[in-house]
Amino acid sequence: MAVDYLRLSLTDRCNLNCVYCTPLEKGKFLRHEELLRHEELTRAAAAFVRAGVRKIRLTGGEPLVKKNVVGLVGMLAAVPGLRELALTTNGLLLGKLAGPLREAGLDRVNISLDSLREETFRKITGSSGLDKVWAGISAALAAGYSGVKLNTVLMKGLNDGEAADFARLSLELPLTVRFIEFYPANERSARLKGALFTTAETKRRIEDALGPLERLPAAASDGPASVYRLRGAKGRVGFISGRSDYFCGSCNRVRMDCAGRVYPCLFSPATHGLKDLLRGGAPDAVLDDRIKKIFLVKSSYRKDSPSAGHVEMSSIGG
Ligand code: GTP
Ligand code: 5AD
Repeated sequence: MAVDYLRLSLTDRCNLNCVYCTPLEKGKFLRHEELLRHEELTRAAAAFVRAGVRKIRLTGGEPLVKKNVVGLVGMLAAVPGLRELALTTNGLLLGKLAGPLREAGLDRVNISLDSLREETFRKITGSSGLDKVWAGISAALAAGYSGVKLNTVLMKGLNDGEAADFARLSLELPLTVRFIEFYPANERSARLKGALFTTAETKRRIEDALGPLERLPAAASDGPASVYRLRGAKGRVGFISGRSDYFCGSCNRVRMDCAGRVYPCLFSPATHGLKDLLRGGAPDAVLDDRIKKIFLVKSSYRKDSPSAGHVEMSSIGG
């Protein structure tokens, strides 16, 4: 499968402290001078587009805590040949930024939200702010994006009782609510043994409460999600079943963290650095050549199961 999708992490910092994401070791953040600057990120993005990337998704940490993120989005949106610029955010700062980001050229927004109940939200994120996330969702819906999705990770005994509540949002709102199977990616999430609440269990809960989910034909914008609709709904319900169903064979993406390390696979800690080239003023041809080699490495990965190993979600953004 050709690589046409880059997930680009802008920062490893976050304004939440989620139970399955934030590193256990406090303060384990990169130093300011290690982070790629706006010009370096844009140069990297342009090189990936020359190598065949058509869609870039900005991640974190939390991408909206990046300094002057609106300016950066404007620079990235102007990269020649890029067809789609998207962003995944926890939504806390989206109330103010949804409009300006749209104007700067952002096409789509995905918002991570794991609970609709203030107390559970606080348990999962270590913080208040559910009202701010709601303001962010409303602002995103009003700003005219070509798609708004909610990402929800259900965990047994924590928020699995909310499956139907989340799916119900799709009845009235024109967004896609997606349930992502929990995966133990880093040391912190590995501690949540038994947390996995599968797609099959989630579907059962939803259908028991709200009636049948009707499968929709697969669309290119669905990514690894399988997508359904509840009868009469304005929006859709999707499932990303990374644990119960591998999709390595159709994986079209690479990830780059905010220090210029490229990860060919979400589940493999193996990385390939680009910062020396981006910062050292190497010619474009040299940069392009290294990216081509990384894509070749990815294509040689086994296609039936994710590689083993831990990666920090806070630095590569899921
Ligand atoms: P769309 O562009 O809307 O399709 O977004 P996306 O699903 O590619 O991105 P998003 O940031 O919303 O990711 C949602 C969830 O899907 C995150 O938990 C990701 O870790 C997970 N995910 C994304 N890509 C992969 C993948 O290649 N494999 C697995 N197992 N999970 C993935
Ligand atoms: N399991 C499942 N989803 C995860 N995400 C981050 N870490 C995990 C994990 N261990 C998801 C977030 C967010 C997206 C970028 O990645 O919920 O929606």
